Amino acid sequence: MDKISLFKKTKIFSFLKSYPKILFVASEAAPFVKVGGLGEVMYSLPKSLRELGYDARVFIPKYATLDAEKFALKPECSGISSQSGDEDPYGLLVSNVLRHEDERGRTTAYFLENMEYYEKRANVYGYNDDTVRWVLLSKGVLEFIKKSSWKPDIIVACDWQAGFVPNLLRTDYKDDPVLNKIKVLFSIHNLRFQGMFDHHFVPEMDFDAGQAAIPDYFDERILKLNGMRRGIMYADIINTVSPTYSKEILTPEFGEALSDLLNERRAVLYGILNGIDTELWDPETDGEIAVNYSSKKIEKRAENKLALQKSFGLGEGKERFVIGIISRMDEQKGFNLLMEIMNPLLQNIDFQLAIVGGGDNAYRGFFQDLQKKYPDRVAGHYFFDGKLARLILAGADAILIPSRFEPSGLVQMEAMRYGAIPIVRKTGGLADSVDDYLPGQDAGTGFIFEKYDKYALLIAIIRASETYGNKKEWQKLVKRAMAKDFSWEKSAEEYLELFRSALKSGRKEE
Ligand code: GLC
Repeated sequence: MDKISLFKKTKIFSFLKSYPKILFVASEAAPFVKVGGLGEVMYSLPKSLRELGYDARVFIPKYATLDAEKFALKPECSGISSQSGDEDPYGLLVSNVLRHEDERGRTTAYFLENMEYYEKRANVYGYNDDTVRWVLLSKGVLEFIKKSSWKPDIIVACDWQAGFVPNLLRTDYKDDPVLNKIKVLFSIHNLRFQGMFDHHFVPEMDFDAGQAAIPDYFDERILKLNGMRRGIMYADIINTVSPTYSKEILTPEFGEALSDLLNERRAVLYGILNGIDTELWDPETDGEIAVNYSSKKIEKRAENKLALQKSFGLGEGKERFVIGIISRMDEQKGFNLLMEIMNPLLQNIDFQLAIVGGGDNAYRGFFQDLQKKYPDRVAGHYFFDGKLARLILAGADAILIPSRFEPSGLVQMEAMRYGAIPIVRKTGGLADSVDDYLPGQDAGTGFIFEKYDKYALLIAIIRASETYGNKKEWQKLVKRAMAKDFSWEKSAEEYLELFRSALKSGRKEE
């Protein structure tokens, strides 16, 4: 069935049958504000649910950078107080909610306004009162639902920032007749971030076991809360963004000191691989790349390679093997391994490296030094830039993602859609979306290495570069990668399954 008739069918269905209403609560959501993969998923997943006929909305803070005019934000609800008057003499905690609705009815988003905690802040993360900001978000959304005529059946609370939603719903708000009917799916996009501290080194005194009531906003103890632990403890259902990661986090190696708790809750722990928005990521229509192409015209990628080399200042040549990196520069992403092998690799193999992404200065410095040494072969832009990222997707031959762990990862899927072959470590969503190339067997969509080890990575890159030398094999590889379907349809159905089982579990209890 094509998309349009599917859409119509489900739209009609949604009138006949009552479909659960879904509210996503998160710290970021594209196109409004996006720092990383979470923001992207907060756009594409609700959108795909809406295309299936469901009413899925998003709730985020209104940060300073949010363009209220561009998104035509309208007042939705005012005077939301998440604290009794006495404890908030300056009214710091009183908020309003604004609403955005696009003309095509594809996105309905709510924004929690608060001058002190969001509107004065240009960044999403990184303030020394972050936990206060996230508790405010969690209380804000619940108070909003109390007042609003639109009430969700399911809340999807994402990562530690929204972990206080299930916590509050099952404690402070448990007797509210409206709120206590709502089911909560706690969605883990990255287990490593749990609060305003390094959870591996918490003094006993500061340890948050998750049972104590959430302290007052102005109480120092609020800064010690572990939103991730609380989210896992109090949610009705938990999911992570790939099946493999959902199993990995049950082990101490990936469990970030929460593997015991996750094992306790494993009966309600699921893994659903993220999808990508195949309209936004489409080499046939992408307006930011030099030449559009499809899997039938992959030779046109060469023009994009030239454009990429030109724009990055690399030596030009259609035949050169170009490896791209589109990544936050972070230990998670395997940059320590990369630093160990890049020099010997550049000395021994003929390839070029194009990098886009911001992050840790140590990594940036390393690549800048390489660039000085090999100006013709290494070039980077050390901040995130969507257009440059697309140039890499369309023009590079391979994309390197050697993550130590990767809950889902989106770049490898975008890369395959654009015919850039992923070289990845077999972990999390990378393991679930890339198949290893098998020479001569017409199988595989990328190059995989298993051990988190510089030699394993080195071998994978050498395999890729050798295979690139065999033009026919490489072309087949590119076509197989481009033929893979990473649209949200399948994963959105899996989310719906989870929602249904969450709602059913509720009925039994009543
Ligand atoms: C986090 C994870 C990444 C995932 C993204 C969206 O950023 O690190 O693997 O793709 O969330 O779920």
